[in-house]
Amino acid sequence: MAVEKGYVDAPVDPAIDLKAEILRIKKEKGAVIMAHYYQPAEIQDIADYIGDSLALAQIAAKLDNARMIVLCGVHFMGETAKVLCPDKKVLIPDINAGCSLADSCPADKFAEFVAAHPDHTVISYVNTSIGVKALTDVLVTSGNARKIVDTFPADAKLIFGPDRNLGNYINSVTGRNMLLWDGACHVHEEFSVEKIAELKKQHPQAKVLVHPECKRPLQLMADVIGSTAVLLKYAVESDDTEFIVATESGILHQMQKSCPDKTFIPAPPNDSTCGCNDCRYMKLNTMEKLYNCLKFEQPEIIVDPELAEKARRPIERMLELS
Ligand code: 13P
Repeated sequence: MAVEKGYVDAPVDPAIDLKAEILRIKKEKGAVIMAHYYQPAEIQDIADYIGDSLALAQIAAKLDNARMIVLCGVHFMGETAKVLCPDKKVLIPDINAGCSLADSCPADKFAEFVAAHPDHTVISYVNTSIGVKALTDVLVTSGNARKIVDTFPADAKLIFGPDRNLGNYINSVTGRNMLLWDGACHVHEEFSVEKIAELKKQHPQAKVLVHPECKRPLQLMADVIGSTAVLLKYAVESDDTEFIVATESGILHQMQKSCPDKTFIPAPPNDSTCGCNDCRYMKLNTMEKLYNCLKFEQPEIIVDPELAEKARRPIERMLELS
């Protein structure tokens, strides 16, 4: 089956029970479905594993009883899974599911940046291509960045790429002066500080939950700054009942599911009609594409073996330090 469009464009019989069929094929083929918190709700609900970037990498590293992984997330997450599980087939429902942050850091340009600072240790966020990972000493996610940066001596010379907002945040909480790559995520950069301030006026009790990829002025309004998993945990464990959530809106599904009696208000971006902030890449994956992906075992994540070998070390180092 051809995948010219980046996904299998085969007709799906509208009469079938899509969920039941996905579960049946998955079992038949010894596949596991892993989903990031930003995936559409119905994909989160059908997944064997759901998590933030760190959890998905940790799960992939330990997965030994599956023949195939369907990574419902974006391309770099599939690459990480493939590097960690070279013997498994790694599929993604739509291979066009990229990442604006990873795109903001091309490997050739990053190589020049690294070469210009030869005495620096290179720390990169997992939201990068395999080419950037291969240039990196240790990877981090938003969930472990601070912990990993803290393992280096206070005077260590560090490069941090590619997210300037996460890098600035880590610099501010650790008192460091890491050299930052000037990249950003289109979703997290887009939140409107003014609209969120207005929402806060309307909901004065609401706690403001902010992902560290958001800009500094929004971070300064936050009650909690953290990865998707940290924000979810806080929402579940806190006695507060109302939250304004400044990260991709997919996370609200798990928040609402875990805390049906609490109120979660999606933080609006500058330019929106619906009031919430979706990642256009994450939302390329659909149940129909997931069904066809499992059925035809395409599209598959293929990685260059040499790059994969180089990328494995910084990923494993991250997992050891997490
Ligand atoms: P998490 O590490 O919170 O899963 O962040 C994922 C991400 O891609 C944010 O843009």
